[in-house]
Amino acid sequence: MSNVLRIAIVDPSDSSRDSLKSTLLGLDKVWLEAECSRYEFFADVVAQTHPDIGIVSIDADPEKSLRLIEQVVANSPECCILVISGSNDGNLILRAMRAGAKEYLTKPLKLDDLLAALERIGERRTGKGENKRASCQVIAVAGATGGVGTTSLAVNIGCALAANPQNSVCLVDLDMSLGDADVFLDTIPDYTLADVSQNISRLDFSLLKRSLTKHSSGLYLLPRPVQLEDARHITVDDMQRVFGLLKATFSHMILDLSKGYNEIDMLAMETANNVLLVTQMDLPCLRNVVRLMMSFNEQPKIKDKIKIVVNRAGLDNGSISMKKAQETIGKDIFWHVPNDYRTMVEVRNNGVPLLEHAPKAALTVSISQMTEALCGEQKPAEETATKPAGSPVGKFFSFLNKKK
Ligand SMILES: Nc1ncnc2c1ncn2[C@@H]1O[C@H](COP(=O)(O)OP(=O)(O)OP(=O)(O)O)[C@@H](O)[C@H]1O
Ligand SMILES: [Mg+2]
Repeated sequence: MSNVLRIAIVDPSDSSRDSLKSTLLGLDKVWLEAECSRYEFFADVVAQTHPDIGIVSIDADPEKSLRLIEQVVANSPECCILVISGSNDGNLILRAMRAGAKEYLTKPLKLDDLLAALERIGERRTGKGENKRASCQVIAVAGATGGVGTTSLAVNIGCALAANPQNSVCLVDLDMSLGDADVFLDTIPDYTLADVSQNISRLDFSLLKRSLTKHSSGLYLLPRPVQLEDARHITVDDMQRVFGLLKATFSHMILDLSKGYNEIDMLAMETANNVLLVTQMDLPCLRNVVRLMMSFNEQPKIKDKIKIVVNRAGLDNGSISMKKAQETIGKDIFWHVPNDYRTMVEVRNNGVPLLEHAPKAALTVSISQMTEALCGEQKPAEETATKPAGSPVGKFFSFLNKKK
């Protein structure tokens, strides 16, 4: 949480404030703490909300806003002031800096300039390089059809990550109607996605964490709404803000997608660093994988993130050979998670994660290794390809050999 920059903005012009807001909302490491349309109120807003950065758009009244900057700097010296203006008059820039502004950006605002200014302010606050945390790793888990194992994998990947005390991990259940991640974790949450998205403009980090349910594994859960109709009020914009805040708060975020591939699912995939497309090795699933890949390949923000995961590998359902499947999909299979129905049903029914219930099971080991391959040190390809015969991939190949 330490390297997130909390920002308050003041700009009497609605249109330029809105455009600044939407730029800021798209940034990972930024949390919009407050917005203000009147210079008169901004010093109080800063004093009450303690943002790291105050962005003052000075064009509506340069004289008034320069006095405001002096006031904010005097009252709230921990808040760095960043000025935005359409004017590049040297005299005005000098006066703004003398009033106490740390950065001065000219309009039209270039994202690169804004990011560089935020970076400079962030470095001044946290020290260069030190205390800097890598950005949040986001894994979206999607399925090729219903019941393919998406939630089982999302929950257990989350628990595998949460087992490392250096990680802070949250799981968001995006299956708004029928999501059951709470069942897997045997929790009765106080708050859901509906509460968080409705109150998003009022949430700060501590309130957000209190709205999430913490499982004994360390995993935080943000479950789907209780009432079906509540789901309809959750907009893509809300979710963009929820994702932004969670990314700024946690080291890892796991998104369990619905099978509807609606706008929120698409946003989740765009937000993710990796998208796991979970499938089984039967014809209906593989056909869907091909269809989905055709669509994802049209989406520049998604297409390179997809990793195919075969779940329940080894399940003898008269299915297709690996070679044939890979040919059909036209893409390498990233991981095979072995079939172990008994263990999976037990963990689901008891509401405990695999790591707790069956830490040594091949299924658990496979999911932990996959998690490490996604988020840990990158292993060279040869190392993965020459896994010992007892590893899940080895087992899967031996199953195929037996079938031939
Ligand atoms: N690797 C596995 N081996 C055996 N059974 C599994 C495995 N993974 C999942 N299952 C079982 O498959 C069933 C469906 O799993 P899960 O609920 O995770 O799928 P889903 O894709 O999230 O379903 P939905 O479409 O309803 O959201 C469960 O009974 C689960 O125990
Ligand atoms: Mg599910």
